[in-house]
Formats: sequence, C-alpha cells, structure tokens
Amino acid sequence: MSLPPQFLDELRARLSLSDVVMKRMRLIRAGREFKAPCPFHNEKTPSFYVNDAKGFFHCFGCGAHGDHIAFVMRHGNLSFIEAVEQLAAEASMQVPKATPEARAKFERQKSLYDLVERAARYFEDQLRQPSGRRGYEYLRRRGLDDEAIARFRLGFAPQEGAGLHGLLTEAGYAEADMVEAGLFKRPENGRGLRAFFWNRVMFPVTDRRGRVVAFGGRIMEGDGPKYMNSADNPLFHKGNLLYGMSRARQAAADGHPLIVTEGYMDVISCVLAGFEGAVAPLGTAMTETQILELWKLAPEGRRTPILCFDGDNAGRRAAERAVERILPLLMPDHSVSVAFLPEKEDPDSLIRSGGKAAFQGVLDRARSLADVVWELEAAGRTLSDPDDRAGLEAALLARCQQIADPRVRRAYEQEMRDRLFRLVREFRPKAGGRGGPRRPQPGEIPVSRLWEKSLRRGVGNTSSRRERWLLLPLLHHPGLFDAIGERLVAAAFDDPRLDGLRQELVACLTMNSTLDAAALRRHLSERGLSETLEDLLSAEAPKFAQPGASIEAAKSGWQEVWLSSEDSLLQQEVQEAERRFRENFTESEYNRLIALKQELLTLRGLAADMPESGQ
Ligand code: UTP
Ligand code: MN
Repeated sequence: MSLPPQFLDELRARLSLSDVVMKRMRLIRAGREFKAPCPFHNEKTPSFYVNDAKGFFHCFGCGAHGDHIAFVMRHGNLSFIEAVEQLAAEASMQVPKATPEARAKFERQKSLYDLVERAARYFEDQLRQPSGRRGYEYLRRRGLDDEAIARFRLGFAPQEGAGLHGLLTEAGYAEADMVEAGLFKRPENGRGLRAFFWNRVMFPVTDRRGRVVAFGGRIMEGDGPKYMNSADNPLFHKGNLLYGMSRARQAAADGHPLIVTEGYMDVISCVLAGFEGAVAPLGTAMTETQILELWKLAPEGRRTPILCFDGDNAGRRAAERAVERILPLLMPDHSVSVAFLPEKEDPDSLIRSGGKAAFQGVLDRARSLADVVWELEAAGRTLSDPDDRAGLEAALLARCQQIADPRVRRAYEQEMRDRLFRLVREFRPKAGGRGGPRRPQPGEIPVSRLWEKSLRRGVGNTSSRRERWLLLPLLHHPGLFDAIGERLVAAAFDDPRLDGLRQELVACLTMNSTLDAAALRRHLSERGLSETLEDLLSAEAPKFAQPGASIEAAKSGWQEVWLSSEDSLLQQEVQEAERRFRENFTESEYNRLIALKQELLTLRGLAADMPESGQ
C-alpha cells in the first residue's frame, strides 16, 4: 500500500539531506552544498554533491541522483519501505497505518480487482461449457488452439448474465460493485441488473502488473458493434493502458522490439508468431499517456517502438495523426518507427496468410520517424524549381517546430536540411559522371547536429578565423565539396561577407562540383565577390588551407577545424548545463546535462576514429 504523500513530504522536511548522508559517510562543506568522493562509484576527487535546499544529491561522475529515500535505499541496499522506516525512526516519526478512508479505498480497490478476476475466470470457464460452445468454435476457426486460449485467458460471456451475477453475489459482492466494475448495467427503469457483455468472446485486459482490469468482447456474427470494451472504472482508464503491456514489458527487457498494432487479435497473432513485444491501444488512436507508457516499457537505449498502420489511405492518415501527437513528446532516445502493412491486411491476417516471415518483412521495412515526416511533406510535390523547394523546406521546418525538446528539434531540422540538400543534388545536371546523389562513405563523419548553432554562437575573431579556414580549402580544391558540402550547406557564419561567400560557394558547387579552382574563382568574381575573395586569399592561413596543400591534407585539416570548434562549443554547453543544473537541481536540467555529455562523447568518438591529420 502506498504511503500518504504528506507523510513522505514531512519526512523529507524534518531531516536535512546532509544529516542523513553524514550519518552514513563523511561530507565536506563546499559553499551552499556538501561534497565528497562518491559512495556509488570509485573516485579520488569528490564529484558527489548534496544540496539541502533542493533536497537532492547528485554525482557528476556517475550520475547517481535522488532524494533522502533514494540515498538510504542505495547506500544501505534497502527496499523503499525499509528505507522509509529507517528514516522515520531518525525523524522520530511513526510510519502511518493508513487513514480509515485510505484503507477503505485500498480495500475497495483490492476487492474490485478480485471481482474482475473472478469474472475473468468465469468467462474462461464458460468457454468449456456447452453454453460456450459457439465461442470456442469461433476462436478455433480463427486459428487459436487450447494453449493459446489459455495463455490469453480468452473466454465467453453467455446470453444470460444470471450465472455471473449469482457467482459474484455468492462471493459477497453487492450489485453496486458489479456495476462499478463495468460488468453489469442498471437499466433506466427496470430493477434487475443486466449483463454488460453477453454472447461475446471475451478478451481480458490487464494492467501494467498483469492484473485483469477490463474486458473487450467480440461479437461472433451478426449486427452490432464488433467489439465492446468495459467502460472506464476505478481500475481501468482506457486511454492509459495498452492491451498486452505487462507481457510486452518483459519481452522488451528480453530484447524483443515493441510493436504497436491496432487490435486484440493482432496482438495475439503477433505474440503466437514470436513477436512478443506486441501491444495495442483499446479501440482508439494512441493517447499521449499511452505513448509515454509505451516508452517506459522498453529499456533505455531501445525506446523506438514500431507502430504498424494499414497500407491504405486511412492508414496513412492514422499515421499522420500519430506523428502529430508524438512529435511534441520526443526526447533523446525516445522515438518511434512506422511500418505500413500491405493493403487489406492487418498483422493477424498477414501472419495467417504469409506467416512470420511476411510480417517480419513489414517490420524490416519500417521507416524512421524522420523518414515519415519527410514523406508526409515531400509526397506529391514537384520540386523542379527553387520556389517549390523553399515551400517544402518551410513545411518541413514547421513540422520540426512541433518538437518541444530543443536537442531533438535541432537534430530533425538538421536532418531535413540534409535531405533537401541531397534532393537538390539529384536535380543537378550530371557532368563527367560526378552528378547524382552521393552515397555517404563508410566511416564518414556525419553532419553535426550542433553545427549550425555552434557556428552561430561563435564570437569575434576566432569565429571569423574558423570561418576562413573552412572556406579556403574549398577554393583551392572545389572537389572537396563532395565530402564536406553537407556540413557547409547547413552552416550559418557570423561574418556576413564570409557567409555570402559560403552561400555562393554552396550554390555553385551544388550544381557543379567539377569546376576547377580557377573557374570557381571566376564564377565568384562574376557574382560580385572578388573583394571578399581577395581578402580571404591574402589573409594568413595554416598549411592545409594554402594553395599548395594536397586535397587529402586540405580535407583532414578542414575536418579538424570543424571537430575542434564543435568540441569546444559543446564543452561550453556542457559547462553551462552543469551550472544550471547545480543551481536548480531539476530533473529536466539533469536530463539535458546527460544528453549533452553523451553528444560530446559521441563527437570525441568520431574524432578518435579520424585518420591523422596530414597537414
Ligand atoms: P478492427 O475492426 O481492425 O478489428 O478493430 P480487428 O482487430 O482486426 O479484429 P478482428 O480481426 O476482426 O477480430 C481494431 C480494434 O479496434 C477496437 C478493438 O480493440 C479492435 O481490436 N474496436 C473495433 C472496438 O473497440 N470496437 C469496434 O466496434 C471495433
Ligand atoms: Mn483483424
């Protein structure tokens, strides 16, 4: 049973966190905080901080983080309730026996769970009775054997509700309970209760912990709504649960991908075919809560469930609505991919007709969310002239604007610009075999997501020097553009003259990267840039940016400049995030800090993979 939140607040308020920690280890005062070598990982210099005002500890080394209870749990290897009991003793507080109201509510919930569970067992049993014969045969016709029926606890609600009513009455339940659990309805003017589900095949719906909380009932033939679901009740809120979620959590922990299908039968067929991470919303489009729940089902690093949609137009529209709902919720390591089924198929029918392999094929062709965003806007547009392309760019960036998380938004904007850039190249006239889209080389440094921002934040001389060094190698070796153009195209320079030159370089080399250095300079002069060009060429430059450098030296020098500026700007961002986090100690700032550190590590991993600079 959960403790009243006021009690936990009081507990935290009575004990200062530093006292709690100091009782268990040494702490040194450091300004408004306390610090020490972290008790949770091995280190010599202290990076473990305790902030009383915020009531949080945090280790900048290993990321350990939490409040009084978390500290005591982790330090003493205790359960939540054990930690609370220890702390309560230190604060001379009594762990409350629940209030009568809380206890009553708890008992009531407990008994509702029990009631619904009894009903589930009753429906299961009915399937084996002569009265449930039709239900049993229906399920067999749909390809389910006894084992599958038992595994999903499928059942049958007979024509008459009297059986269930009698059973529940015998177990001591009042009619009010049966109504509250959604199993019976009280007719407007009649007196006796009427069964909510009758003459239907029953699919029990379980909550996160695998307890039955509701049912879906399918009609076997004839008219009427195909499926009926329990109305929301104290145990069940349709928009918060996914069918199959407790099994899917285990499956995800075992490495299965999470797959979101549309219906009960889809989930069952998927699971029987070995796709154990299958879930489904309950007859509605996925809600925000369901999306967040879905991400929570998967372990860190694998939070990209696959959403399945029909291949027809309705399916596309459903996918678009899902994307619109998901974009604002994206976070680093929280995304989705999207798979489209062949027309007129759902996962259940596809697995029946084409087997496991057919559905696996659909999953293998799942598109990334970025692909889907792109396709939503690019489909059906003609892109032959610049206006069309500008329109597409605006539409794509508007989609990106829906993303609330700034890091993810930045990444998507960058991705969309990259794609536009590649598209423009496809329109470039082919000359000397060098036109057409360029395949990225293995091991190539991906376009940085921070690129644009970091250049924008660059200041004064350093930034203009960096900008010059990023342009000069291209003037000497226009052919370099194939390797680095994607990064240059998305960059925004601080120096307006250099930025003008950058833009013209990009425009010109995008259309024709076979120009030689002389022709390129002629072209730039014709565009009124000769003065900028002269200034640039006459300024001092490192070897790799001089005319005599080989193209390899120019390229690795260029990459080095790029990486080091990325690195230092990212470091600044990390420091800034660290400072903000130390000031405010909020969870979201903590997450931001970790994500930035991760980005820095990734970048440094790339730098380490690069060949030695040849300058
Ligand atoms: P579908 O109509 O696609 O059915 O509804 P299905 O899952 O393929 O079912 P079968 O194969 O005909 O048995 C998808 C889901 O939408 C909900 C159910 O959850 C169903 O599984 N639904 C559908 C309802 O809630 N009510 C309905 O009347 C129909
Ligand atoms: Mn179906």
